[in-house]
Amino acid sequence: MLLMKDIIDDKNPLIRETSQPVSLPLDDQDRQTLMDMFEYLKLSQDDEQSEAYGLRPGVGLAAVQIGVLKRMCAILIYDYDQDGKIVGQTAYALVNPKIISYSERMAYLKDGEGCLSVNDDHQGYVPRYAKVTIKGYDALTDQEVKIVARGYEAIVFQHELDHFDGIIFYDKIDADDPFKPIPNAMAI
Ligand code: NI
Repeated sequence: MLLMKDIIDDKNPLIRETSQPVSLPLDDQDRQTLMDMFEYLKLSQDDEQSEAYGLRPGVGLAAVQIGVLKRMCAILIYDYDQDGKIVGQTAYALVNPKIISYSERMAYLKDGEGCLSVNDDHQGYVPRYAKVTIKGYDALTDQEVKIVARGYEAIVFQHELDHFDGIIFYDKIDADDPFKPIPNAMAI
């Protein structure tokens, strides 16, 4: 299993490298890497497991964050009811995902974004598209998928795909005015 020590931070120059496309069909090693990444997200969002293994909770992880320069990422976002019970999930282990279209409308997280590879505090609004359509291969279901993501999910996908090109969320925060209003954007 992956632990925090396996995740590189933004002081490691690898995090700025460009990840390479992955050849399909997926070989065993790439599949295992993706499954390990997905498992990390799952365990990290389980209170008992995250405490037992000292895992920082995450909803997305790109392969570069464990030092593998391949365009692969895992996503696991739970939907909760009012009592905090899990009632649904958005779960993918994606290979070569690509944004094929996006909305004019923008979105940002009011409380800012975080990243398992970023330990320092970087406050400010990160402008994202409010809706994106993504194509890629999903190793969880073993098929090509087309995903339409909106709002929070759309933001998570964009954050992970940026990692493939060495981009970290705080690169997109206005350095002079981090909380400058973003035109045509919904706050989430
Ligand atoms: Ni990140």
